[in-house]
Amino acid sequence: MSVDTLTIPAQSVAQSRIAELDINNIEFGKIFSDHMLVADYKDGAWQTPQILPYGNMSLSPATSALHYGQAIFEGMKAYKNEDGDILLFRPQANFNRLNISAERMCIPALPEDIFMQGLEQLLRLDAAWVPPTAGCALYIRPFIFATDDFIGVRPSSNYRFVVFSCPVGAYYGQPLRVAIEPHYVRSVEGGAGFAKAAGNYGAALYPAREMQEKGYHQLIWTDAKEHKYIEESGTMNVMFVIDNVLVTPAVSSTILAGITRDSVLQVARDKGIPVEERRVSVEELVAAHKAGKLQEAFGTGTAATIAQIATIHYNGEDMDLPAIEGRQVSNSIAAELDRIKTGQTPDQHNWIYKISL
Ligand code: COI
Repeated sequence: MSVDTLTIPAQSVAQSRIAELDINNIEFGKIFSDHMLVADYKDGAWQTPQILPYGNMSLSPATSALHYGQAIFEGMKAYKNEDGDILLFRPQANFNRLNISAERMCIPALPEDIFMQGLEQLLRLDAAWVPPTAGCALYIRPFIFATDDFIGVRPSSNYRFVVFSCPVGAYYGQPLRVAIEPHYVRSVEGGAGFAKAAGNYGAALYPAREMQEKGYHQLIWTDAKEHKYIEESGTMNVMFVIDNVLVTPAVSSTILAGITRDSVLQVARDKGIPVEERRVSVEELVAAHKAGKLQEAFGTGTAATIAQIATIHYNGEDMDLPAIEGRQVSNSIAAELDRIKTGQTPDQHNWIYKISL
């Protein structure tokens, strides 16, 4: 099947729920658009997808993903330009990463036409759900899970790929207080930290809750061997501006290769901002803060976009960073990325997949 020949049967809703959406008061991940895409893998092949009204799915209690976590997901966003076209931001990158995660989790690779054509047809049907409002987007959640009705531990023979979406505003409503994690680990070399595997997020809940109880919104993971080097933050990659250089941990087998991360670094390079992808030690951050050279810190992610970090806690001390308004590097990159995503500036890296209605 080629990318543009897949015919996807669609069962449209009789009555849209869009009237339930308060566009000025959107809470992340609570209201879902009218339709979802569903494709099953069985008898050794991905089957023709279908578009159905968004709704509950019936599953056996023995569904293997529920027991052993053979499940992966993606997060991506769609925007509207001023002509009302839908602009999907870097869907090809999400598709590639989904299949990287799939391989690590023994899930059969998803064909590109199911992903791309499925997305396009789903978004055409749910176009009204893409918010035209600045700062808002349609968040799209593709995921695959193992559906064998079997509780032996082995890769499943059956899977389901689903895509649904929800209009969203900011994931984090305020600048973040984060704490460097000195004990728990998210990921180890040889593990699945680079994959967007459901279990990576489930296992992070307990340490994150501990930090939240101490008054921090999120934690920053450190390496599993020595807790000396910064890895990523919960739900996002993390970046710093130290002495006018944009510095971020290099991606590795223990860090998720964030698509927003990559976009931020590219925009920084386009702007002539010096960028370093390398190991970043906790010690370096503390010393830079002491010397007044830690100018900015922020998280990057599809949901989080660019989430400013106001305070970093380490070893009993809060390091308060300079005011958000004066952060020239992250604020200028965030503004440029917004212009690219909403079609207000030329798309020189071919990041936008446009769906004209
Ligand atoms: C995203 O940014 O899309 C993510 O997947 C993070 C999340 C778990 C909300």
